[in-house]
Amino acid sequence: MPVDLRTYALGLPKAELHLHLEGTLEPEMMLALAQRNGVEVRYESAEAARAAYEFHDLQSFLDLYYAGCAALVTEDDFYDLTWAYLTRAAQEGIVHVEPFFDPQTHTDRGVLFGTVVQGILRALEDGQELYGITYRLIMSFLRDRPVESAMRTLEHARLYRRRIAGVGLDSAEMGHQPEDFAEVFDIARERGYHVVAHAGEEGPPAYIAGALDVLGAERIDHGDACLQSPALLSRLARDRVPLTICPLSNVRLRVVPDMASHPLKKLMDSELLVTVNSDDPAYFGGYLTDNYLAAAEALGLSAAQLTDLAANSFAASFLDDDEKDARILEVRHYAAHTPVE
Ligand code: ADE
Ligand code: ZN
Repeated sequence: MPVDLRTYALGLPKAELHLHLEGTLEPEMMLALAQRNGVEVRYESAEAARAAYEFHDLQSFLDLYYAGCAALVTEDDFYDLTWAYLTRAAQEGIVHVEPFFDPQTHTDRGVLFGTVVQGILRALEDGQELYGITYRLIMSFLRDRPVESAMRTLEHARLYRRRIAGVGLDSAEMGHQPEDFAEVFDIARERGYHVVAHAGEEGPPAYIAGALDVLGAERIDHGDACLQSPALLSRLARDRVPLTICPLSNVRLRVVPDMASHPLKKLMDSELLVTVNSDDPAYFGGYLTDNYLAAAEALGLSAAQLTDLAANSFAASFLDDDEKDARILEVRHYAAHTPVE
């Protein structure tokens, strides 16, 4: 029996490679945790929170995102946050996740690094056991805070070196070039972390080149700006540098005017290793499958193209090669046995 595209996309085995755990904090949970912890939040109700989620750029979103983080205080809060995401993920065909967390957002408020990471890791372990969702956790540095703060965070992480797979770079991009963090990333690479970095979301193509050349990024988060530089575009294609594209995020943060103008298809046509991701789904109105479908609808992507995007999500992951091959085989098997109407 042929299925519709939504059902097809839901069942397609997928990896999510660009997701901020703090960006999965739904308003209902934010209010419940705030009450549990006796913390003030600025919203009267979940509806009021959602109504306030109107953004005109990255910073206007980050202001609310960091304010929302104040509700997260105890290890159980971080467990509950991560567990809620994994439960959703399991229901939409996500079998592997490489989520980010932003330790400085929490440690700067007096929450211990261990409290954050232990809550998250306990949920990720449970998710692997109960849902079969594998994971690689990525710790992101906030580029709009001092380099010394990132360095301290890297030191905090030493106790968890084997349980944190990679480091990333996020937060307000303009004026915070990757080069500023060269030393932090040099040390991180020496310690064996994988490296990713947000670049070219609002920033110029030079930030993408800087992330690759100076930080040693293996993947670029967003990277939309690469289309402004033909030389960079060829380099990314030639070197198979993955981009973690976030369609709904890009529309909500006005990186693109609307979904019909989104560069996803152009990037696919340019032979780039592009993946689709949800970024901060509680704020942008959609989880991973919603992103696949919104892009498919606006850009006319076929089921075969969604299948390629799912295969890319594993190819671009930090799974071992044999695990990647096995997951990609699952994707192709699903496609071969799931006719679309
Ligand atoms: N932190 C959470 N979401 C982000 C985004 N889209 N860009 C930069 N930093 C972020
Ligand atoms: Zn992001």
